[in-house]
Amino acid sequence: MPSVIPQPVIAKLTGAAIFLVVTLKPEPGHDESVRTLCGDLASLLRAVGFRDPSGRLSCVMAFGSDAWDRLFGQPKPADLHPFREIRGVHHAVSTPGDLLFHIRAAHMDLCFELANEIMSRIRDAVSTADEVHGFKYFDERDLLGFVDGTENPVDQDAIDATIIGEEDPNFAGGSYVITQKYLHDLQAWNALPVEQQERIVGRKKLSDIELDDAVKPAYAHNALTTIVENGEQLEILRDNMPFGDAAKGEFGTYFIGYARSPSRIERMLDNMFVGNPPGNYDRLLDVSKAVTGSLFFVPSATFLANVPAEPGAKADVSESQPRVSDGSLGIGSLKGEPPHE
Ligand code: HEM
Repeated sequence: MPSVIPQPVIAKLTGAAIFLVVTLKPEPGHDESVRTLCGDLASLLRAVGFRDPSGRLSCVMAFGSDAWDRLFGQPKPADLHPFREIRGVHHAVSTPGDLLFHIRAAHMDLCFELANEIMSRIRDAVSTADEVHGFKYFDERDLLGFVDGTENPVDQDAIDATIIGEEDPNFAGGSYVITQKYLHDLQAWNALPVEQQERIVGRKKLSDIELDDAVKPAYAHNALTTIVENGEQLEILRDNMPFGDAAKGEFGTYFIGYARSPSRIERMLDNMFVGNPPGNYDRLLDVSKAVTGSLFFVPSATFLANVPAEPGAKADVSESQPRVSDGSLGIGSLKGEPPHE
């Protein structure tokens, strides 16, 4: 049975990242360059990454629902749809995004070089919706000062949480990803007593230890984002990154969450923005405004490598099982690396 190699969804946390979201230009005349890029991405990555192997450059390329229809048509991943805005106590906006490039490396030079090579291939075909350069902030903290990423699943648990299996055989080895760019009101946040900040996050600020259930409020971020179904916790993999512009006073968190089904991330978002029960919402949102929101499908690396330049012909990667043990076309590694080197 042929095997399918996933993209490096579960690449470990890195010191730098670029989140590049673009839209396809309305006239489809340049789509060929996007299709060609799909097949060339692995070799581009090898060329840039090989110059500094310890930099662990990786890239995930993902497609929004409309872009999928236009570039690939049927079959379509079972759960791929546009990001659904949420109007609750707070507003989760839905913003345009046809292609996402999630570029990670130990250093920004590698990320930038790859982003530039990618854009040089598709510049005529796309408009940039958003480009965010994220950085590691001390001991994995976000700009609110809390350690972010602690409860991420690792190794096989991360694969189980993110990589599609038998539930959608045509797209085994794929994944879904939701991105949101948040801007923080740091002045308001820093005006809160640390004990209140800790109740909002659900963990101690300095030590990162989780608050005891006896003192953790129902509105704590880590309570509202814990989804349990039939006794099993439905996990996602996050690789949030701080970003900012000191001169403008802009302080942000770029949220990125991967899962084998978008519905578990959407349930977390409902809990945060509407509340669970309604009204019991996430107080992080009182000081954090979501200014973007998009949902993408991450096809397997095998699918990408087989995208033909012309529309019509289809990559045959059906009846395959994901194989996740030995890297991914050289575009990032899947196991056994420490976080943030
Ligand atoms: C303003 C944006 C956000 C910030 C600053 C933030 C920050 C944090 C922090 C500090 C933690 C605790 C440490 C950890 O386990 O990582 C956490 C946990 C978590 N966050 Fe977020 N987060 C944000 C948005 C989101 C969104 C939009 C989602 C999902 C839709 C999400 C899902 C989760 C999950 C699943 C956990 C782990 C819960 C657990 O199992 O304990 N976060 N986040």
